[in-house]
Amino acid sequence: MQKRATARPEIPQDELRGKCQRHLTRLGLGDFDLEAHLRWAREAKATELESIERLLAAAAGFKLARSIDWRFERSGLKVKKTLAAFDWLFQPKLDRRTVESLFDLGFVARHEDVLITGNTGTGKSHLLQALLLKACEKELPVRYARCVDLVDDLYAGLADGTYERRMRAWCRAQLLIIDDVGLGQLKRRGDEPTAAHMLFTLLDRRNMNASTAITSNLQLSAWGKYLGDATLAAAVLDRLAANAIRIDIDGPSYRQHLARVRAGTQTGALPDSSAPAAQVTP
Ligand SMILES: Nc1ncnc2c1ncn2[C@@H]1O[C@H](COP(=O)(O)OP(=O)(O)OP(=O)(O)O)[C@@H](O)[C@H]1O
Ligand SMILES: [Mg+2]
Repeated sequence: MQKRATARPEIPQDELRGKCQRHLTRLGLGDFDLEAHLRWAREAKATELESIERLLAAAAGFKLARSIDWRFERSGLKVKKTLAAFDWLFQPKLDRRTVESLFDLGFVARHEDVLITGNTGTGKSHLLQALLLKACEKELPVRYARCVDLVDDLYAGLADGTYERRMRAWCRAQLLIIDDVGLGQLKRRGDEPTAAHMLFTLLDRRNMNASTAITSNLQLSAWGKYLGDATLAAAVLDRLAANAIRIDIDGPSYRQHLARVRAGTQTGALPDSSAPAAQVTP
């Protein structure tokens, strides 16, 4: 005798909607607009596969955005800068092609370093901060610190016995940005290692294993005095000279430009207090 196919009991639409919404929430996609998606599928007469693909693409997009935010929040950087917001016309002498080529992040894959020098206010930090955001978008492990804060962190490690753990943490990032070498007073305490010793150890361990990008408004010849040890500072610069992409920004200060715009005196020149730009060779 032939068996009659038993009809599958239909789940009420409202119940299904509720279930979908709970699944979405469980996956962290509570903001996904399910009704809008269903409307789109109806109006576009989408196939089942097209509908699923669009749903998964939205889910992947949400996940990526969360990953970027998470990486950025943990990086140590507070402000978001982008290359799109950088006014190239203001810095006509800047080598735009070299700067833009950094943003494919090939140098991180090649474990190369970056050293950007130039007068104060010329956009050195802006460029590396934009680079950090780009690296977050590529889901790379990144960390950012101003030089004084990094050195302070390591000094704190000497005080509480966590120096090695902290040093290893700074070494882990695939891209480490050390911003503003030359700005702020570096502490020096008795017989403890100098900032030059710490930076040397850090760069030596990272050398050829991971990328370090640095900005400085100091002439390279002044690094020894600033870091507290001329020989070690020379060793730091030697490593950078061998492996770093060098960019020098020889131009006006954007901060002063903004100050003039704010004051409404585009033509009135403010005194330029900046030091001369650093030279290429250490
Ligand atoms: N070409 C530019 N286009 C748009 N904004 C810029 C440009 N250059 C700098 N800025 C902005 O001007 C301010 C100062 O720039 P930034 O901090 O990058 O300078 P800097 O070279 O790092 O200076 P310092 O040596 O004092 O640290 C920032 O708010 C930055 O976003
Ligand atoms: Mg800076």
